[in-house]
Amino acid sequence: LGVPVPDHKAYVIRNYKDVREDQRERALIETEYNMFSFPADLLTLDYLSDSGSTSMSDLQWAALLHGDESYGRNKGYYVLLDAFRDVFERGDKPEKLVNLILSGEDNVNKLMNEVYLTSSEGGFVNGGVHQLSRPNTFIVPQGRVSEYLLFSTLAEVLHEINPNRKYYIPNNGHFDTTGANIRAVHIEPINVFDKSVVLEPFPYKEMDLRNPFKGNMDIKQLEEIINQKGPDSIPLIYITITNNSIAGQPVSMANIRAAKEIATKYGIPYFFDACRFAENAYFIQKFEEEFKNVSIREIIKEMFSYVDGFTISLKKDGLGNMGGALFLRDNGVFVKKYSINGKNIGIRIKERQIVTIGNDSYGGLSGRDIMALAVGLQEVVKLSYLKSRIGLTQYFAKRLAENNIPVILPAGGHAVYIDMDKFFIGTAMKTKNFGGVGFTIELLKHYGIRACELGPFAFEWDQRSEEQRKSILNLVRFAIPRNAYSRSDIDYTVAAISELFKNKEKIPKVRIARGAELSLRHFQTGLKP
Ligand code: F0G
Repeated sequence: LGVPVPDHKAYVIRNYKDVREDQRERALIETEYNMFSFPADLLTLDYLSDSGSTSMSDLQWAALLHGDESYGRNKGYYVLLDAFRDVFERGDKPEKLVNLILSGEDNVNKLMNEVYLTSSEGGFVNGGVHQLSRPNTFIVPQGRVSEYLLFSTLAEVLHEINPNRKYYIPNNGHFDTTGANIRAVHIEPINVFDKSVVLEPFPYKEMDLRNPFKGNMDIKQLEEIINQKGPDSIPLIYITITNNSIAGQPVSMANIRAAKEIATKYGIPYFFDACRFAENAYFIQKFEEEFKNVSIREIIKEMFSYVDGFTISLKKDGLGNMGGALFLRDNGVFVKKYSINGKNIGIRIKERQIVTIGNDSYGGLSGRDIMALAVGLQEVVKLSYLKSRIGLTQYFAKRLAENNIPVILPAGGHAVYIDMDKFFIGTAMKTKNFGGVGFTIELLKHYGIRACELGPFAFEWDQRSEEQRKSILNLVRFAIPRNAYSRSDIDYTVAAISELFKNKEKIPKVRIARGAELSLRHFQTGLKP
């Protein structure tokens, strides 16, 4: 039929308020035109983030009632650990302890043997007797907390190894909080991607038929950096899947393997920022010949088989409204290299976790949230879900391209990105005028749609050196909340963007009225069109 088969229905709905343009304008003025500060309840559509904005499934809501709010070793802790093993380690052989517990199994010996006292080691989720002596799974409220735990602890260890060395962490695209957490401990984050691949000329041909994996790490550049700085100055190699900062583009298995080879060659630990791992696996299946007939679960298993650890926000592909985690491979390169002075690095991390976030079996989450995550992780790896999710993103990008809007193509998994340099061709808009911000202000004011500039304003172009400016793209992102929006929402959005595109010379230049010097400034800076 040329249209997708519907795959879910809404069984709870939320009605929008009828908000007038002059009311939105007043709210914009009083919140200093800062997108993050605009009250969500006054919006029609909200593409600010795909993080935590998921509509949960009926099974997730049902799982909430099984939440156990005990302080030590709540029931959901075991369910979540096993969901992690299922998804990241077992491939097509999930064991579904979730079901054993949720079905009300009351054979106590069976529960002890298979759930509560089960032992596992050598992977990302130690259980049983190894849980205390070699902790390697750290549940946290969200992704950035796992970054904080990892990098603050790593910096402490690096300082003990050599207090004078300067360190660098290469990533195919550091997310803003990731870069900020690394900078906060005086390590320098470096983005290693190929800009020319991301920004190829528009319009594109065959946009749905190919995917060159524009999110890939530039392996040649990576090796140059290692040789230039020295392997001892690179504490780890970090790959973000999918590459949110670089237009949400996926990373190929070939690239994941190539980076692994470099990591092995130089003895450097290898990590993922794995927030959108399931979406990335879908692209591998669809576009890498070798994986055409391999299941999503098997692809995920192989992806994670290469790394020594990963940080993850479960507010994305955990299908949760809250949650994150840090994993270390038991006895992996990272653990071996940084367990110094007689102390396992997992124990150092756990001490920090308990002091700042909470005991390791809840990590700042309620037992209810933990249960919802365990179910979400099982749902996100289903092919039907991923097809519908990424199909909607592709539909959005295609409709924009049909209206000549310079969208980055092919689209990634979670968002569409408009190239604002190309958008403003033919107008007087310059990089320093933050045209992307002006565009988001107009879109919100006229149509009640919120999007987010990820460009010169967000990445502090005016505060960076000439060299650093080169890796800043001028994009506006529309991140699509999971399981929430439909094609009619997209159609409204495309109509609104097209209208602004036709009248682009009326989009105002924007200046920073307060707080240009602040870091993470899209959360706190005041603006003026
Ligand atoms: N890494 C990546 C690649 C991310 O996209 C995010 C969050 C994080 C880490 C941090 O996770 O928010 O749970 O603390 N990205 C959201 C976004 C906020 O809108 O892109 P968090």
